[in-house]
Amino acid sequence: MTDATWSRNEDHLPAALRGLRIPLIASPLFIISVPELVIAQCKAGIIGAFPALNARETEGEPPLLEAWLKQITEELDRHNQENPDRPAAPFAVNQIVHRSNTRLERDLEICTRWKVPVWITSLGARPEVNEAAHSCGGVVLHDVINNRFAKKAIEKGADGLVAVAAGAGGHAGQQSPFALIREIRSWFDGPLALSGAIATGESLLAARAMGADFGYAGSPFIATHEANAQSEYKDMIVESGAEDIVYSSLFTGVWGNYLKKSVSRAGMDPDNLPTADASSMNFGSGSSKPKAWKEIWGSGQGIGAVTEVCSTADLVDRFDREYRAAGARLAAEFTG
Ligand SMILES: Cc1cc2nc3c(=O)[nH]c(=O)nc-3n(C[C@H](O)[C@H](O)[C@H](O)COP(=O)(O)O)c2cc1C
Repeated sequence: MTDATWSRNEDHLPAALRGLRIPLIASPLFIISVPELVIAQCKAGIIGAFPALNARETEGEPPLLEAWLKQITEELDRHNQENPDRPAAPFAVNQIVHRSNTRLERDLEICTRWKVPVWITSLGARPEVNEAAHSCGGVVLHDVINNRFAKKAIEKGADGLVAVAAGAGGHAGQQSPFALIREIRSWFDGPLALSGAIATGESLLAARAMGADFGYAGSPFIATHEANAQSEYKDMIVESGAEDIVYSSLFTGVWGNYLKKSVSRAGMDPDNLPTADASSMNFGSGSSKPKAWKEIWGSGQGIGAVTEVCSTADLVDRFDREYRAAGARLAAEFTG
């Protein structure tokens, strides 16, 4: 089957979101997403992303975010000049739009100056963040866990949405992806990504079948060579499955999914965790309880599909192979 067979209708998408090798966005991962990983994701043909807060300089040093944006931009430009037939996908920067993120204004200014092409906003929808992105031609995707937040985000000026359904790694929703995508698609025809346990090309195709433009995957990328994670964390992702994940609000004040084994190693019973309220969220020093995030490892439920630590290029190749094979299999049902 030729590539032309797979051309997608992308007319409703802004230019920055068109022409990906497969319709996949690698989600921003706290601590884990560093330039090496983002560059590898973009070179593999999918949108790579990192949280701005991952770039943390020691006091008195110039902003590390600026150095990262320079590195990513230059490296992708070089790649595109050398490989005009398979250019890199654009990259995305994630902004945590929470009142405790004291760096937000500075980070917006830096990202505007570097003309970041895709902006992913989480935890708060604010018009001035969307305006900053639009001022440099950027596209904003806002992360939501229900239809109410989705409407609010679009009202405040986001261009598109990431629907974070049940089973997603890190901060996650509780709704079925079937229900969530259906409700959002009933009124919104703009860019829409689906997040939550998408770890195979088959689940990526399912997201597209439901009406999402993109799948949004994080946890499988933790088990890549380029991810900034301890080898024990990568191995735990490979060894674990959906039953090894616990949904808890204890670690950041927001409900999210974590590896049970990392919770028990930290001396807690993953099956009897107390709840925490949202007032305990604090991103002031660049993270929410950084110690907890370093010891308590986030992961979505899809990791049963992750069977080895591999390169990002190999992981994207697998998604691509599975996506095309599943598409061909289903297409045959309709044309046979
Ligand atoms: C370890 C970890 C850290 C995360 N950090 C962030 C973050 O800093 N910002 C953000 O918007 N989402 C973050 N997420 C959530 C992802 O954006 C995304 O919703 C999730 O990875 C998708 O589910 P999956 O992991 O099952 O693919 C994180 C997820 C994980 C697993």
